[in-house]
Amino acid sequence: MRETEDLFQYPAEPIDPSSSIPLYLLPEGCGPGRDGSLWMRGQKVSDLVKEFGSPLFIYDEEQIRSRARELKEHFGSDVAYASKAFLCKAMARLVSEEGLHIDVASGGELSVVLSSGFPPERIVMHGNNKSVMELEAAISAGVGRIVVDSFNEIDRLEKLASKDSPVKVWIRVTPGVEAHTHEFVMTGQDDSKFGFSLVSGEAKLALDRLLVSENLKLVGMHAHIGSQIFALESFMKEVEILAPFFASSGLEELNLGGGLGVPYVAGEPIIEFADWAASLKESARLAGIPATARIIVEPGRSLVGPAAITVYEVGTIKEIPGIRTYLSVDGGMSDNPRPVLYDSGYEVFAVNNVLARRDRPVTVVGKHCESGDILVRDGQLPSSTIVGDLIATPVTGAYGYSMASNYNKVGRPAVVFVSNRGYRLVLRRETVTDMLALDID
Ligand code: LLP
Repeated sequence: MRETEDLFQYPAEPIDPSSSIPLYLLPEGCGPGRDGSLWMRGQKVSDLVKEFGSPLFIYDEEQIRSRARELKEHFGSDVAYASKAFLCKAMARLVSEEGLHIDVASGGELSVVLSSGFPPERIVMHGNNKSVMELEAAISAGVGRIVVDSFNEIDRLEKLASKDSPVKVWIRVTPGVEAHTHEFVMTGQDDSKFGFSLVSGEAKLALDRLLVSENLKLVGMHAHIGSQIFALESFMKEVEILAPFFASSGLEELNLGGGLGVPYVAGEPIIEFADWAASLKESARLAGIPATARIIVEPGRSLVGPAAITVYEVGTIKEIPGIRTYLSVDGGMSDNPRPVLYDSGYEVFAVNNVLARRDRPVTVVGKHCESGDILVRDGQLPSSTIVGDLIATPVTGAYGYSMASNYNKVGRPAVVFVSNRGYRLVLRRETVTDMLALDID
């Protein structure tokens, strides 16, 4: 396993901002064709945009499948895909076909997953404020595990469940780990709305109550320390802290959550599933977690994030002399709110000339009525880029579509899956008719 410090220095050479897009940031099946433009698995990307319009999310389905298989190699079927990262029926079916479990965090996610025909016993239900209706829906569907997050929820669940068919639950524990990531996506610290705090003793009280519950069957423990984490030490710390509590509980299932980071921009490291798995398992062993315990993970971003790109059409280019060049596209914070929310960085490149040097500094902005509607603050594009060109941002497969809105009544983009056998539309573009369907005269 490489040291995390080394990983942060990867690649070793200083990055030339005007170099062409680093190809390792593109989906596996994506690259320049003989014509220099972007192709994915035999499909010319600009043809997909002609057919489905712009902006367009394009996923490399083969990559998601091969990443899912890789996870299985390391964790067996003890993997629950965190569907909040990206969910539609086709995605849920893919997860089911690959034999993974799935995590849902609301009644809405549960409904989409169930409507895909997903086996209910492989569903994990999360949420820090599940309503009675959501809990009822989960119980009546027969979901595999409900992750209990508060004492109020224990009360609710005890009323809904019965002695004859106890509901299987995990207890969500807040281990008090400050993961190295953005404050808004940190969840394992003591000051958190999620779970029962270990330090305060609440976790022990909840555990004792669940162990004697007749209507609830406590079968495991859950923790999730945050998202977009590169430092494997943070995960190891999580295991180390949970281990004594878990080992003394006598429980057999330990879900360590998701959170593995992925590179978005040149210079960020790739952390392999193998290294993640090895560090979790090795730290579990060292911390005295019984070898018979099942270690479960719940990745979202690392499964789907790198597998997609978003393609946009350039609408206007506005050069403010001495200040910056604004390049406006036909989407924006409505299809990718991450730069606005977390100041997240993205790369951008020209679809018609993938390997071109990106020698012009630009700020790629959306079409919404907000100055903060920025997609790529310090982007670089070829100076030949003109109005009407297609540009793309890679690594948009997680928390892009799933956090999309129709702000300014800009419809959510369509989503296409591309495989070795062809391509298919999995989510059609949102239209004004869809929006008006909610509107009561
Ligand atoms: N399990 C639980 C209980 C979670 O809350 C999450 C993510 C995951 C698993 C999956 O984490 P992942 O492997 O995707 O990091 N919108 C933010 C990320 C929020 C993550 C919320 N919970 C972003 O765009 O960065």
